[in-house]
Amino acid sequence: MKGRAVRVPRSLGEETRKALREQGMLRTDLEVGHDGDRLLFPIVEDRPAPEGLGEVVDAEFSPSSSRGPQDYRELLPWPSAELATLPRSFDVVGDLVLIRLPTELESRGPEIGAALLHFVPGARLVGQDRGVQGPERRRRVVRLAGSGPWTTRHRENGLALDVDLEGAYFSPRLAREHARVASEVRSGDRVYDLCCGVGPFALTIARDGRAANIVAVDANPRAVECLRATLSRYPFGARVEVVEDRLERFLTGRTPFERVVFNLPHEGIKYLSSVANLVSRAGRLFYYEVAERDARDRRPDELVEVLGGSTEWRAVDSRTVHPYSPTSDLVAFTLERAGS
Ligand SMILES: C[S@@+](CC[C@H](N)C(=O)[O-])C[C@H]1O[C@@H](n2cnc3c(N)ncnc32)[C@H](O)[C@@H]1O
Repeated sequence: MKGRAVRVPRSLGEETRKALREQGMLRTDLEVGHDGDRLLFPIVEDRPAPEGLGEVVDAEFSPSSSRGPQDYRELLPWPSAELATLPRSFDVVGDLVLIRLPTELESRGPEIGAALLHFVPGARLVGQDRGVQGPERRRRVVRLAGSGPWTTRHRENGLALDVDLEGAYFSPRLAREHARVASEVRSGDRVYDLCCGVGPFALTIARDGRAANIVAVDANPRAVECLRATLSRYPFGARVEVVEDRLERFLTGRTPFERVVFNLPHEGIKYLSSVANLVSRAGRLFYYEVAERDARDRRPDELVEVLGGSTEWRAVDSRTVHPYSPTSDLVAFTLERAGS
């Protein structure tokens, strides 16, 4: 059966298998194939091909003969009515696994944690995700199974990011956004990454190599520390200037840049007009907001009004990143300033 594959030398086999699993990209319904002295890892087709792991090619595969559990819930000896109340999905961040649990299942967290620890290849620690809180958007996590700290290295878009899940915001669900925004940076652009967290936007942009200059800002010292640690491991690290500061202070007296990323979805609107002053003529602002679904269609025009009207700004596009609540989504808006 034909499928998409990542082709790598045998010596990189285990590393590649782990990275693809962590990114949820590895297909388990097909056997790993061979092409001379190279391995062909079958990968899912409905997401952008992973970058930096190997060559992406089309290949012929055989169906997998070993059928282990396809779902962690198969490892729980619970009545099916109870199993049906368990969430199907979970997040993997490096060797950490996070799951959101309904209140009525919290007392059974350790059983669920043990099942996930067994199910997710390479998992070290499983936690209950109690959401993010406070201005620094720190995640509250409760250990369910496994051991060790909440710090890890997470691979996305071919980069290994230092992450401290309790100390600084990070979500593996934004990987495509990090890659998409980076792909919109043109040669010679200068970029601000405002509220950069552990820096996935700034890092992806720096790695791509087109930006002339990147300034990444966050008020959380732990986020800044993680970003600096990641940058120190890459040759392109010197291209990113990391600033530990509050937006309120940072925004005054800055030179406008061609690209500005602003990801502070709950409070960003408070700063939007000041942030817009950091966008140069014909430059673009990548702005994130949690938007009510029924107001979504008019939101781009509302944002243009907040910024001073359509002679100065236009909404280039808006896209849903992921659902946020039963009635709202995290939405990415691209806003462009008029040229001179
Ligand atoms: C939703 S996180 C975004 C992180 C990152 N851009 C990403 O995609 O992973 C928001 C970040 O804004 C930072 N933050 C919140 N209020 C801030 C402020 N007033 N000034 C500077 N940073 C702030 C938090 O510390 C947090 O890291």
